[in-house]
Amino acid sequence: MLYRNKIPIDKVDKRYKPTFHASVPSGWANDPNGLIWYNGQAHLFFQHNPYSNYWGPMHWGHLTSKDFIRWEEQPIALKPDKRYDIPFGCFSGTAIEKDSMLYLMYTGVTLSRQQQCLAYSNDGIHFKKSKRNPVINTSELPFGASKRDFRDPKVFSRDGKFYCLVGTKRNEHGDILLYQSDDLEHWNYVGNLMEIDDRPDHQPINGVFECPDYQLIDGQEILFTSPQDLQSDGNRFQNSQSSVWIAGELDFETGNYYYDQFHELDSGFDFYAPQTMRLPDGRIILIGWKECWGREYPTEKDNWVGSFTLPRELTYREGHLFQNPIHEMVRYRCNHVVVQNLDILQNEALAIDGVSGNRLELNLLIELGDAEQVGLKVLKGTFNETRLYYERKSNCFVFDRSASGVPIKGKESNTTVRKCDITAKNVFSLRVFLDVSCVEVFLQDGYSVMTGNIYADPENDVGIEFYCKGGNARIRNLEIYDIVVE
Ligand code: FRU
Repeated sequence: MLYRNKIPIDKVDKRYKPTFHASVPSGWANDPNGLIWYNGQAHLFFQHNPYSNYWGPMHWGHLTSKDFIRWEEQPIALKPDKRYDIPFGCFSGTAIEKDSMLYLMYTGVTLSRQQQCLAYSNDGIHFKKSKRNPVINTSELPFGASKRDFRDPKVFSRDGKFYCLVGTKRNEHGDILLYQSDDLEHWNYVGNLMEIDDRPDHQPINGVFECPDYQLIDGQEILFTSPQDLQSDGNRFQNSQSSVWIAGELDFETGNYYYDQFHELDSGFDFYAPQTMRLPDGRIILIGWKECWGREYPTEKDNWVGSFTLPRELTYREGHLFQNPIHEMVRYRCNHVVVQNLDILQNEALAIDGVSGNRLELNLLIELGDAEQVGLKVLKGTFNETRLYYERKSNCFVFDRSASGVPIKGKESNTTVRKCDITAKNVFSLRVFLDVSCVEVFLQDGYSVMTGNIYADPENDVGIEFYCKGGNARIRNLEIYDIVVE
């Protein structure tokens, strides 16, 4: 196929580029793919169109890192050049190591079908496609499953066998299919995960269950997926597409997955298609696409679209999945400022000497006192501010970007306010990361997370203020650090 050239790096305007989040060097990126620790470093592949700032024929871009914060660009790993992946390209998938080789499973997309393909490498950088591709073709679909919606293989091993989960639509409902293999090249269909029954929380969902993923975390099996067309439910699932975690039990004989409830992975604006990986030290890491489909992307003009969340460490306790920023972040902390026991008086903006910036980490423990609403304004300048606050009467944490800067329209009627249900007693903890155009808020020790992109003035909108309404509150402890990645 004939393509134009890759967008040169010197054509990229970096004004909104994050500094400690991975992002596409130039052109377009969506889902993270093939997360794996291989040959002494982390590999983050991603859905990539190198030739324009829009989604297009999908390649696999490739970044590597030794610490998950500083990323290095590698050559493109996969491009559409075979009859089974032309013209739409190499869609999302995962990576696995076998006999010291690195294997990528991805979806090859033609005009009429989606099929699972394999590529392999002995250096983790240069890949060859298997002669047996597609290794799972559409003849291996169960009755009622869609040939055009059969994608995003998650490959993993268990008890010496390989398994693969693939997202699909079956009889017009989202589903996930389980396959088994002994060698990654020959696969047998086992069964489907989402049997519909009459539990109230188990209603059929019409869209494809995109990007399935599976991990055993602290003894609990967790399925991750990004089902299209999830209906909003109170404050949950407010984006046009959302990602969920589902604690349950996978029956490897039948493929059925037994579970009771769905939980949203991120209650903010910009988060989709996450993937997980296990590190050699046992930690489970999750990275998501830090964007959402169907939105305006203000960096289109700057010749790049697409960045990724901070890598998050996942733990499971007391029936809940906790997400916290990867520990390696602490290496990049500079200029520590500590403030303790400082009153926030109602209707009085509190700015603190030495507390400002847009590349930083802020850890806050707040006593709610008798305030109705308490929080902070970040990325604040003469015209813009982003509000992050707890609201006692509705028991929720609010991320309000209605006055943040460049407005972002989307398919949803509301693209400016997201709320996360959370109950605080007397104290409330939050950990906020600001990285030029990224805001990530980890609430109550990682019980919930809210992620959003903000396009304020990167030079001048760097103010931070604390405030409360309807009563007084108090900062019990505030620790703030600049995050400096040279
Ligand atoms: C999710 C997704 C995947 C697909 C990829 C295509 O964001 O739609 O299902 O593989 O993006 O780029």
